Amino acid sequence: MSIAVTGGAGFIGSAVAQKLHSRGDDVLVIDNFNQYYSPKLKEARVHFLLGDSVKLERIDITDYEAVKEAFRKHKVKKIVHLAAQPGVRYAQKAPEVYERNNVLGTLQVVRAAIESKVENFVFASSSSVYGLNKEFPSKESQPVQTPVSLYAATKIAGENILHAYAKMFSLPVTVLRFFTVYGPWIRPDMALFIFAQRIARGEPIPVYNFGKSAKDFTYIDDIVSGVISALDLRFVFEVINLGNAVPVQLMEYIAQLEKYLGKKAEKQLLPAQPGDVNKSYADIQKAKELLNYDPKTTVSVGVAQFVEWFTKYQDPLGLLDMREQ
Ligand SMILES: NC(=O)c1ccc[n+]([C@@H]2O[C@H](COP(=O)([O-])OP(=O)(O)OC[C@H]3O[C@@H](n4cnc5c(N)ncnc54)[C@H](O)[C@@H]3O)[C@@H](O)[C@H]2O)c1
Repeated sequence: MSIAVTGGAGFIGSAVAQKLHSRGDDVLVIDNFNQYYSPKLKEARVHFLLGDSVKLERIDITDYEAVKEAFRKHKVKKIVHLAAQPGVRYAQKAPEVYERNNVLGTLQVVRAAIESKVENFVFASSSSVYGLNKEFPSKESQPVQTPVSLYAATKIAGENILHAYAKMFSLPVTVLRFFTVYGPWIRPDMALFIFAQRIARGEPIPVYNFGKSAKDFTYIDDIVSGVISALDLRFVFEVINLGNAVPVQLMEYIAQLEKYLGKKAEKQLLPAQPGDVNKSYADIQKAKELLNYDPKTTVSVGVAQFVEWFTKYQDPLGLLDMREQ
């Protein structure tokens, strides 16, 4: 019996797979190693993980027959569904990719889950579903009808598809809304990575919304602990925020990065970009009560961990350069 992690070669998926492996679970990593960012980074994340108890299927989640067969072959009993097209900006270039991976992909994974009679299904949603909501901190009971990015719209669709399937087929589902996750092995399209790369090269960094944004940055290990609790417990259907519950000003985030890189950033202050949500702040009371979730990592500690990884992870060929996105 194994636990399937879709998107298991991704930033969060590989960390979840690593944690499950370290405590003795059998894990099935599902990933198509797509080209949105360097597949080499994805390969590197899973390289040391694969072995007797961690298996890999290089399949596309939109291929229902392939997913169903993988679940059967590896006797999957629980699923963490993390595979998706992330980021808000890429939608201007390739909107269909969001619809395909996030909507059709989620539908095919949940259909295969029903077919395989899995015991528990955990889904990665996002704080971006709160869209234009003006009430902070964001609570799970707030309506989510005002997305400002296609990414958020497809995450809401994923949540709704899972709600319908949970009700129709009595599948236990937990929807986790992650708030800006960061740490070692982060996605290279995320601000922290882009900033670090540019500061290290002595290039200016783009600071959108003139630096007036504040985000609830959540350290990867805290997210992983919430995901594992949701997998171990089982709910009929729940939506739960996983954040740090401490919004941090973007300028403070950058200051921490400058401190640990030992270099000052040249900041290019720019207007907000379409799709950006400029404030996020999670209410995590429900996560505390239901998952015993207790995030402990301050941005200072988390950014220091990221910088330690970043300075070790050499990228001489510029494979992780995301300027083209
Ligand atoms: N990182 C964050 O701050 C954050 C915040 C909120 C929600 N999330 C959600 O968490 C999940 C993981 O995010 P991440 O930051 O690790 O992203 P990631 O891009 O690093 O990981 C996603 C993985 O899914 C794989 N994938 C994509 N489409 C696929 C398909 N059709 N078939 C098979 N594999 C496919 C990719 O190759 C990638 O390895 C996503 O669902 C994302 O929307 C992330």
